[in-house]
Amino acid sequence: MIAPGSVYGERIVNGYRIWDRSRSKLSALITKDFSLPLNRSSKVLYLGAATGTTVSHVSDVVTEGLVYAVEFSPRSMVDLLRLCDARKNIIPILADASRPEGYCSMVEPVDMVYQDVAQPNQAEIATANCARYLKPGGYLVWMMKTRSIDVTSAPKDVLSSEILGLKGLQVLKVMDLLPSHRDHWAVIASRANEP
Ligand SMILES: C[S@@+](CC[C@H](N)C(=O)[O-])C[C@H]1O[C@@H](n2cnc3c(N)ncnc32)[C@H](O)[C@@H]1O
Repeated sequence: MIAPGSVYGERIVNGYRIWDRSRSKLSALITKDFSLPLNRSSKVLYLGAATGTTVSHVSDVVTEGLVYAVEFSPRSMVDLLRLCDARKNIIPILADASRPEGYCSMVEPVDMVYQDVAQPNQAEIATANCARYLKPGGYLVWMMKTRSIDVTSAPKDVLSSEILGLKGLQVLKVMDLLPSHRDHWAVIASRANEP
């Protein structure tokens, strides 16, 4: 994964950007032996792009593909736009991920939906976006922060009931992101191939 330089102050070693698991949940997942279901021409719909920390690493992987980066905070979008100037495979979209119809003119069917939105209705957002944009056979990687959904219940109970809210997808794997991200889980699901 050769990259054009440091994006958010991360170190570069022998030309490679350090992808610190404490800075990125996707890095934490990969360090747990998760093999990212992407190749260089994959297309990714990324929900909750923030200023582009993890988006920039996904952009390094899909060098000939595209990352559709959805973020609803105008403030974060300013930094994200700077990143998009330097990287032509990221399409910035200022929009609310809970209204996926709002970006239908900009997004094509994708190989992976990555979601990291820290909202109470995370399952609903994932379901709606996958139904609209995820290709049959494609994958959802959902970073779930249980405290954003319910602070009063036990995190594992929140995790189980939230997963039940995911529709139209088969859950393949659920992994915690300890030690770097407490009360966070990665839910990996796939959309069945059409008969
Ligand atoms: C935990 S941060 C994401 C960090 C980022 N994924 C990374 O690893 O670099 C969550 C982001 O989701 C955004 N967000 C929350 N709800 C959203 C929604 N409904 N639509 C779009 N963005 C949303 C927030 O503004 C915030 O920037």
